[in-house]
Amino acid sequence: MSELKLTKKKLLIRVDLNVPLSEGKISSDKRIRAILPTLKIGIENKCSIILISHMGRPKEGQFDKQYSLKPVAEYITQLIQKEVRFISEWSDGFDLIEGEIVLLENIRFSEGEKDNSENLSKKLADLCDIFVMDAFGSAHRKHASTYGVIEFSETACAGPLMGKEIDSINQIYTDSKSPIIAIVGGSKISTKLELIKSLSDFVDYLILGGGIANTILKAQGKEVGRSLYEESMLGTAKNMIEANSECQIMEISDVVVAKGINDSSMSEVKDINSVSNDDLILDIGPKTSDVYEETIKKSSTVIWNGPVGVFEIDQFSSGTEGIAQAISQCGGYSIAGGGDTVSAIEKFGLTDGISYISTGGGAFLEFICDKTLPSLEALKNHAKNLEKGP
Ligand code: 3PG
Repeated sequence: MSELKLTKKKLLIRVDLNVPLSEGKISSDKRIRAILPTLKIGIENKCSIILISHMGRPKEGQFDKQYSLKPVAEYITQLIQKEVRFISEWSDGFDLIEGEIVLLENIRFSEGEKDNSENLSKKLADLCDIFVMDAFGSAHRKHASTYGVIEFSETACAGPLMGKEIDSINQIYTDSKSPIIAIVGGSKISTKLELIKSLSDFVDYLILGGGIANTILKAQGKEVGRSLYEESMLGTAKNMIEANSECQIMEISDVVVAKGINDSSMSEVKDINSVSNDDLILDIGPKTSDVYEETIKKSSTVIWNGPVGVFEIDQFSSGTEGIAQAISQCGGYSIAGGGDTVSAIEKFGLTDGISYISTGGGAFLEFICDKTLPSLEALKNHAKNLEKGP
């Protein structure tokens, strides 16, 4: 975007405004604030700006109020003190005054978005002089508004947020110093298998948390009681433990257990060999936490995706808070991504302690594994085709 002549152009900017909403109120505006520099460039260049995004995963082809982007248009208006007109129905065309900013309704209400239909991709491309892809959080989706539109746009480019995300994540590959540690939490090994494999080839230490850790413990023959684990992944987990890798998977020596998961659940710290068959493992224990924290503090590069416990409930939040605190004290380069991870960092007030917090969830994971994303490839192809000429 910074290399193009933008003055008075009509920009279609794909952003990721898929923000958490509760009763119509935005509970985290991180993704909104992340696009403000992009808007500033457009405004300074007197561009007319059409913003486009998805929200949630509605049924395609039908309006559903809970997934409407209307509250987001109102929020941005307040934030930038300039009207962002909301357009609920745009497929039959709309007027745009020079210098105006509009936000189109959730693109996932439109038929053809998820299938990357040529029809919708062309329709989007026809709306603008320049298509700007700045939705890093959605750049792993081959949808009409993130992928197909690029091919049909006369001019297409990446926006500043895309650039910042890519540079910040790439830094772990280009500039990282050992020791490198990765923390991967979450409920399922199956959804993070590629990430764990990619990281094991690259990092010195790996901390696994949540249901992922429970699956590893179960594969080691430990009792995990009624805890969440993946039966179908036990073989994979066993191979992971036995692999002759230079990466050390850090051990869990104690855990926090309870009989239920709610605010009033009584928690208890147990040695890893004392878990009973009706226990639920809901966090790492203090001894494990101490070792993890010491290792993190001595690391020069930290990559974090996924909490290690049910951090939303105070009794089970110490492990995740300890990790966040240790990262903020490590003095090295740290990067974090994923919805739950960002919520945990925000909950513990440690946003300033992490070198870079990505706006991506799935895109963050996919970029770490593949070092590219479908939208980036589409932009590169578009540029190549322009060089080749007709
Ligand atoms: C996200 O929240 O990770 C992005 O907005 C992508 O959303 P999706 O997983 O529904 O495509």
